[in-house]
Amino acid sequence: MISGKAKLAGVMGWPVQHSQSPRLHGYWLDQYGIDGAYVPLPVRPEDFEGAFRALPLLGFSGVNITVPHKQTALELVDILDPMARQIGAINTVVISDDGNLTGYNTDGFGFLENLNRGCPGFDPEAGPAVVLGAGGAARAVACSLIAAGVSDLRLVNRTRDRADALAGSIQGPVSVYDFSDTDHALDGANLLVNTTSLGMEGHPPLTISLDALPVQALVNDIVYAPLRTDLLKTAEARGNSVVDGLGMLLHQARAGFEKWFGVMPDVTDDLRAHVLKGMGG
Ligand SMILES: NC(=O)c1ccc[n+]([C@@H]2O[C@H](COP(=O)([O-])OP(=O)(O)OC[C@H]3O[C@@H](n4cnc5c(N)ncnc54)[C@H](OP(=O)(O)O)[C@@H]3O)[C@@H](O)[C@H]2O)c1
Repeated sequence: MISGKAKLAGVMGWPVQHSQSPRLHGYWLDQYGIDGAYVPLPVRPEDFEGAFRALPLLGFSGVNITVPHKQTALELVDILDPMARQIGAINTVVISDDGNLTGYNTDGFGFLENLNRGCPGFDPEAGPAVVLGAGGAARAVACSLIAAGVSDLRLVNRTRDRADALAGSIQGPVSVYDFSDTDHALDGANLLVNTTSLGMEGHPPLTISLDALPVQALVNDIVYAPLRTDLLKTAEARGNSVVDGLGMLLHQARAGFEKWFGVMPDVTDDLRAHVLKGMGG
């Protein structure tokens, strides 16, 4: 039950009906007995600026921003968190009492938290990290790994120019490998992360050989539909520790929830099951 004083948040995207965020935040609002609501906000690209600027007038505490508005929103906020600036996109906006909009990107936080929780004791500084992909998610993953102290980050992408551009925009020890050269990138690696859409439902499979990857390396797929991707199955079968991608989605949401509703929520097995059920899993 919500009162007239309920705090408001939501997710702006187009389309937005497949977003798990209302289900996720709704679970936490219920769990912590918070007087608040989190709603889907389907906004067409041509209407985005008007709708975004109206949020303070409507009394919102903040919103999540999803496809296709993440870059546009970055240009419209009053204050930009340094990590969001580096990543070049925002997914979380906080509205202050005086109506100022601050943009954050919490994907990197969610990614690292997921590794920490999924593989306690994992040390990102212990060796090279290989990131497959150079899209929006790769940008957040790569920036967070550099911030976590990785001293040898290897980007592997189908389109070389895109990986070169990403490497050039990150201040840190980043090198680029062609997909045909994946074996060299995997040699001696401590971590392998798939950030491409390969292996996702409705997309082509990810077909790389893991022969050159040390069995001590941690393997993470940020694709979470399906939850157990072929990459994770293959890696686990040869003895690697694996972490699935659902935790990144859940952990990235915690930072926004705390800023809007004042409680840092937990990611539990029950929450995972609740969100998976919403995905039809
Ligand atoms: N777990 C989470 O919380 C989370 C968060 C964000 C994203 N994701 C998932 O991460 C994936 C990527 O998202 P994104 O936003 O980064 O997408 P994006 O910006 O469109 O980037 C897609 C990436 O996949 C590569 N790719 C696509 N098709 C390919 C193919 N046929 N062969 C080789 N490479 C291919 C692209 O390579 P090119 O540069 O060569 O096109 C690019 O590196 C999606 O599956 C998304 O659901 C998960």
